[in-house]
Amino acid sequence: MMGKPEGLKLIDENGYRLDGRKKYELRKIKMEVGVLKSADGSAYVEWGKNKIMAAVYGPREIHPKHLQKPDRAILRVRYNMAPFSVEERKKPGPDRRSVEISKVIRGALEPAVILELFPRTSIDIFIEVLQADAGTRVAGITAASLALADAGIPMKDLVAACAAGKIDGEIALDLNKEEDNYGEADVPVAIMPIKNDITLLQMDGYLTKEEFLEAVKLAIKGAKAVYQKQREALREKYLKIVEEVGE
Ligand code: CDP
Repeated sequence: MMGKPEGLKLIDENGYRLDGRKKYELRKIKMEVGVLKSADGSAYVEWGKNKIMAAVYGPREIHPKHLQKPDRAILRVRYNMAPFSVEERKKPGPDRRSVEISKVIRGALEPAVILELFPRTSIDIFIEVLQADAGTRVAGITAASLALADAGIPMKDLVAACAAGKIDGEIALDLNKEEDNYGEADVPVAIMPIKNDITLLQMDGYLTKEEFLEAVKLAIKGAKAVYQKQREALREKYLKIVEEVGE
């Protein structure tokens, strides 16, 4: 969120955005499950120009041992941006932003995972952003949730996520980098659709109460569409296995 250059229009007179989308349209999303050989679960998501890999290890014994919980597993999340994922090369390693994002992603995923089944273990989630174009936390949550399912970890539901925001004074779905930079606000949301739970809700920028509610509703709609794509991606993986067995 920064000052918009004079005369830059994010929505034209016909209602089209700079990348050709309408106000309530998602970017193109592709998901693939089970892409890494040596992780217990993995998923790769392309979401517009975002490219994100998620890998899951566990449940496995925790080191150091004093972190073990006698009655449940702990969930650990590392969100990381590759140095080449952004225009200005990012210094490798954790910074304040990635520590915060790791924490909120953990909070978004934790309610879905049935941790009590695996006392004394950890489930470790690695989210690697290979290319970033805004919305990486929601794309990361979406990928991580698929990777957890791929690892066979029992969950109450998949977690699906999406953001909505405000550009040129209007509420719009799924802002890209340019829109995030020059727009007025961004509201990322994560949901567990079966019980209508919201597991992540943040806001960057300024919105009235009415606009905020409109953005949250729109983001939830987007997340529900993302959820359908997640289910398809999982189904696809198992169809492939069935086909292989057939051969
Ligand atoms: O990615 P997300 O929208 O969840 O988080 P953000 O902090 O609002 O960042 C928005 C976007 O800014 C990222 O997706 C990147 O495209 C970009 N960014 C960047 O270019 N350099 C950074 N060091 C951090 C973010």
